[in-house]
Amino acid sequence: MDIRKAIIPAAGFGTRFLPFTKAVPKEMLPLLNKPAIQYIIEEGLASKVSNFFIVTGRQKQAIANHLDASPELDAFLEERNKKELTASIDRIVNTAHFSYIRQTEPLGLGHAVWLARHMIDKEYFGIFLPDDIFVSQMPGLAQLIKVARQEKASVIAVQEVPSECVSSYGIIKIKKKLTPNLFHVSSLVEKPSLRDAPSNLAIVGRYILSHKIFKALDQTSAYATGELQLTDGITQMMNNNEKVLAYKVQGMRYDIGTPIGWIKASIGMALQNPAYAPHLKEYLASIDTMESFVYNQKKNISHMY
Ligand code: UTP
Repeated sequence: MDIRKAIIPAAGFGTRFLPFTKAVPKEMLPLLNKPAIQYIIEEGLASKVSNFFIVTGRQKQAIANHLDASPELDAFLEERNKKELTASIDRIVNTAHFSYIRQTEPLGLGHAVWLARHMIDKEYFGIFLPDDIFVSQMPGLAQLIKVARQEKASVIAVQEVPSECVSSYGIIKIKKKLTPNLFHVSSLVEKPSLRDAPSNLAIVGRYILSHKIFKALDQTSAYATGELQLTDGITQMMNNNEKVLAYKVQGMRYDIGTPIGWIKASIGMALQNPAYAPHLKEYLASIDTMESFVYNQKKNISHMY
């Protein structure tokens, strides 16, 4: 089973991050010195996915600009012997293929995925929700691909969430526990109350789905909220007898869809990076002393970056 294609729905309004997201896509939020979308593409390439179908809307041109060649900048950097500053994005531009699909109205995640149906043959493919950034030894999507190959089935990524959070996620109902981390799914419930939640395993932003999802989305008439939900499509696909598994993705997940989630991701990733960690640790240690609020050239390291 070759999985080389992925859909990246990125057409949402990002209301939880307004007003920042009014003109700048949240996929361009920086995490250290790279925008979030770059981490997603890097995860895809590290999982051997090289064709990306990005579903975008108005005000999202910055995503395509970032993932495109930039001859003027290249010439400028080459003259100054500074080409290494863009090495990580140059690698992407030279190896990945991008196609863009416009979603003219944000009619839901299921609708965004459905719009990319003509790009997918009779095959399994990946979906990345770019709000979720995984830091893990084996790339998040690669973990799902491995399971999908072994089991010849669709696989959705899940993680345990605290009970106060279940109402913010799609939650799986388990038919059978196959291994400590792998489950046969019997149904999905979108944002249940704690009382109605069938488990504490929340769907997080990575999927490997069969092409059969498109027919299932066609059959889904659950427009009750005015949006076509991907979970409704997956439920319909299960009703059509496609096996759906859930895999507890190993690694750290950051949800950067809100300012606080993004702040945590920035701090968490900086603490893992030798170029930033010593300075950040020193800053965090000094933060509850009055001194840290007084500008001190020796102590205040913020001017260094
Ligand atoms: P979210 O539910 O996070 O919506 O969508 P959002 O608009 O990005 O953010 P909030 O909730 O308003 O703050 C999950 C993913 O699905 C995409 C989003 O871009 C995001 O990557 N999406 C959602 C679409 O592409 N189209 C839609 O109609 C809805």
